[in-house]
Amino acid sequence: MLEGLKRLEYRGYDSSGMTVLNDGTLTRRRALGKVAALEAQLETAALTGSCGIAHTRWATHGKPSEANAHPHHSSDNVAVVHNGIIENYEKIKETLQARGYAITSETDTEVIAHLLAEKLAAGLTLFDATQEIVSGLGGAYALGVMSAAEPGVVVGARQGSPLVVGVGIDETFLASDPLALLQVTDRFIYLEEGDLVELREHGDIRIVDRKGNRVERPIHTFEHGDGAASKGEYRHYMLKEIFEQPKVIEAALEGRLSASSVLVESFGPDAQALFQKTRQVHIIACGTSYHAGLVARYWLERYAGVPVQVEVASEYRYRHPVVPEGTLFVTLSQSGETADTLAALRFAQTLNYVGSLAICNVPGSSLVRESDMSLMTRAGPEIGVASTKAFTTQLIALMLLTLAVSKAKGQADYPDIVAALRTLPDVCQRVLALDSQIETLSQAFAEKNHALFLGRGAHYPIALEGALKLKEISYIHAEAYPAGELKHGPLALGG
Ligand code: F6R
Repeated sequence: MLEGLKRLEYRGYDSSGMTVLNDGTLTRRRALGKVAALEAQLETAALTGSCGIAHTRWATHGKPSEANAHPHHSSDNVAVVHNGIIENYEKIKETLQARGYAITSETDTEVIAHLLAEKLAAGLTLFDATQEIVSGLGGAYALGVMSAAEPGVVVGARQGSPLVVGVGIDETFLASDPLALLQVTDRFIYLEEGDLVELREHGDIRIVDRKGNRVERPIHTFEHGDGAASKGEYRHYMLKEIFEQPKVIEAALEGRLSASSVLVESFGPDAQALFQKTRQVHIIACGTSYHAGLVARYWLERYAGVPVQVEVASEYRYRHPVVPEGTLFVTLSQSGETADTLAALRFAQTLNYVGSLAICNVPGSSLVRESDMSLMTRAGPEIGVASTKAFTTQLIALMLLTLAVSKAKGQADYPDIVAALRTLPDVCQRVLALDSQIETLSQAFAEKNHALFLGRGAHYPIALEGALKLKEISYIHAEAYPAGELKHGPLALGG
């Protein structure tokens, strides 16, 4: 389990924990900070047993602390790990407290342990108890649960956050990502939305779909060599990263949407309060990230009704910006280490902002560490020098920000946009399937020396990004214009 947690460290987290069941007793170890801190605890106070759950947490409700780290227990009976956000946990918490349960953490997760304990006390099995309680959970979750009363059983549930079963030899595993399990198996069952799974000793697996019907899901063999460090079948990394877009868009959305709205806490425990206070937004970034910011201006003004300024970091940091009351400072960066963006953040911290948010692809980066809040874009390592999939996931993150600001301010939930976001991985796949046609079309342009990209609305910054990509990759001179500006000068080039 420790090895599994280490393999997921790159995703970012603030604490970790593990519970093992042995001789009918659940024993837990938790640590703030790195998995190495948990490992050090386990070296001095080892856990033994053949059945357990472990987790790395990124705070959404309550600060990073040992008490908020998973697993969460209900007395000595039940242990739970959870990815995602339970939207209605406060209501559930009140009813549990009224029934005498003591809540020991600030998390949305702990209520799940108590709900299960109640059902178990009423005589249900862990599997049936989980099936009963999930229908009352709003939001998004991937759960792993166990009970002291049922040795050798782990139950999982998936709704809005990924969960896979690892099929071993005489043993089974559950994880949010197959990467966590590659040291023990390369055979996986990918659970579907609404699935419930029971793992038993010696490899027995029972899966039930959202309607309660027993189902068999296929076992897939993981293709090794699919890692970020290899180009696989692709001619170069940039091409590989372009084709990764459907997968990373899905990752960027995982656990951040409920059935019809965004989960505001995806941005961290303070997001709701901060967005409520937000009256305008300043977005600061460089290069491709700046273009993503320009797109977000169209969205934030239209859907969240807040005025937005977007500026390149190397200009912002050298001027004297006016910061009206209630302004949120947002940085965008793939790497989180771009010197101008970082300097802009440090400068902004001396000004009158309500808070800072970093939208970034690298969890441990300086930008993330130094900002009040952060949202990871989850594009995975980007090895190609020209940014591609990182840009796409930045746009996803910015649309989530737009929806979150609107929701936190009590304006609108935009279920139609949420539904459209869910279809994006598929839409993107269909665009990528046009690859050979695009290649044929490109032959008409390959010998040109100059290119003009045009766009209106949110497509104007997309045109800017297109021009930047063409310049970087082909060394062909390229410029972008708002579509309506063509007639105000550039047309002269056609003469
Ligand atoms: C363009 C590109 C650069 C970066 C810019 C900012 O393809 O890669 O323009 O976008 O240097 O980098 P980050 O996003 O890491 O701050």
